[in-house]
Amino acid sequence: MSTRTVSSVIGGAQTGAPAGRFKSTNPARLDDVVAEVALGDAAQFVVAARSAREAQQAWADVPAPVRGRAIANLGRLIEDNKEALSALVTREIGKPYAESLGEVQEIIDTCDFFLGEGRRLYGQTVPSEMPDKQLFTFRNPVGVVAVITAGNFPVAVPSWYIVPALLCGNTVVWKPAEYSAAASAAFHELFCRGGGLPDGVFNVVHADGPATFAGLEQALDAGLIDKVGFTGSSEVGARIGELTGRHLQSACLELGGKNPMVVTPHADLDLAVEGALFAGFGTAGQRCTSLGTVICHESVHDEFLSRFAAATAAAKVGDPAQDVLYGPMLDAKFAERFEKFLGWVSPRHTVLGSTGTGRITAANPRDGFVGDPEAGLFYHPTIVDGVRPGDEIFDQETFGPLVGVTTYQTMDEAIELSNAPGYGLSSAIYTNDAREAFRYRRGVTAGMLSVNNSTSGAEAHLPFGGNGKSGNGSRQSGLWVLDQFTRWQSVNWDYSGKLQKAQMDVVELTPDSGFRLA
Ligand code: UN1
Repeated sequence: MSTRTVSSVIGGAQTGAPAGRFKSTNPARLDDVVAEVALGDAAQFVVAARSAREAQQAWADVPAPVRGRAIANLGRLIEDNKEALSALVTREIGKPYAESLGEVQEIIDTCDFFLGEGRRLYGQTVPSEMPDKQLFTFRNPVGVVAVITAGNFPVAVPSWYIVPALLCGNTVVWKPAEYSAAASAAFHELFCRGGGLPDGVFNVVHADGPATFAGLEQALDAGLIDKVGFTGSSEVGARIGELTGRHLQSACLELGGKNPMVVTPHADLDLAVEGALFAGFGTAGQRCTSLGTVICHESVHDEFLSRFAAATAAAKVGDPAQDVLYGPMLDAKFAERFEKFLGWVSPRHTVLGSTGTGRITAANPRDGFVGDPEAGLFYHPTIVDGVRPGDEIFDQETFGPLVGVTTYQTMDEAIELSNAPGYGLSSAIYTNDAREAFRYRRGVTAGMLSVNNSTSGAEAHLPFGGNGKSGNGSRQSGLWVLDQFTRWQSVNWDYSGKLQKAQMDVVELTPDSGFRLA
């Protein structure tokens, strides 16, 4: 398999490697180098922001329906390249191919949604309190948008920012994850070609986190960035929120999750097991929406747990090019971090779900493993029963194939346990009782709730986002994201030929307030 050469593209031109080079490897076959990545530094990020700034006015001047047409063409080009892009995603981050196809479909769905928005981008006509005066609202682009994304969804999640940002007349500087650089470069190329975007409208900078943060700070100081979109950890999100706050901006933050799944006595247990298996172990548990803890009613705990453990033990793990539930960790740094999370398992907990824990090797095998475990970064699925608040496994996000299980007695307790870790991205409840479902909906603080479905797998046109440690309340996707990438401008137009003063020159009708029915 060939190794691609990837570098930043600013104003339509490839750039050098002021911060050295990085190798992006296939996590399912570590000897397969997918890309050699030329890394930029902080100065390169600033140059990209300046290029985006210079291109922005002309891009905003392109009529919105024409920008919408560009998004339409882009969606079709991605559709025609769906298999190639999906194969690259699987090769670079180890997501099973069926999931990669779904990920690329999410870009197409996003384009399909926003192509029509180019002909809407509605403002309002609003009645004035005075005659011969009319009020209006207009959506204006914010300007230059910096987008910084993780590599677990290396192409779908970036599209959630970049498609609406471009449609609304903004220009973009995108910093993807280093370990998904080849998929990102392919995405960028498809966008520039399929969208027919003028140079400078969409720039990509490959850089590490510290260089990006320094570059972002300098670009904000220089007034070159108007909006930041960030998907990643809660820690980095808090730093970005602080930095943008100092510049009187509010970032669009999509952060971690500790997503609960409540299984009530009125649940279809087989359905709940199926949901927990996919939510907990699909994508090797490396979605921000992955299941954190199953909160099981004590009356169904034993039955649920034994069925969940059996399903997990029987699930196919291994080569992501084949039909498996999950493949490897995204990259070595995620494998290392996952080892730390496994260290949080204590003798008070019961571990189930596989023939071992930790990395799958010849000496620590997994029954039914698909392929050669030694070739990549594969980990046993791990169910940890008996977790409680105060346990790190219960309180912290454990990005990877690990699911905690705990019990509850009352619905109030289930809600309290769901909210206790302080995240608030996704959640799920399995029940056939409408009262339980709606009671839980009111109590859970998560931005998203699934009833009888996985915590993961949100559709691309509903508001996506979280509260608490999962985000600052910003929402992506659908119509809701337009508020991230446009600013409302209010216009009043007085054609009376005189100065009419608001609140003062307003006609009043006199009510007969003493009137009573006979
Ligand atoms: C993420 O992990 O950052 O809802 C996003 C889902 C996917 C997106 C996850 N559509 O699981």
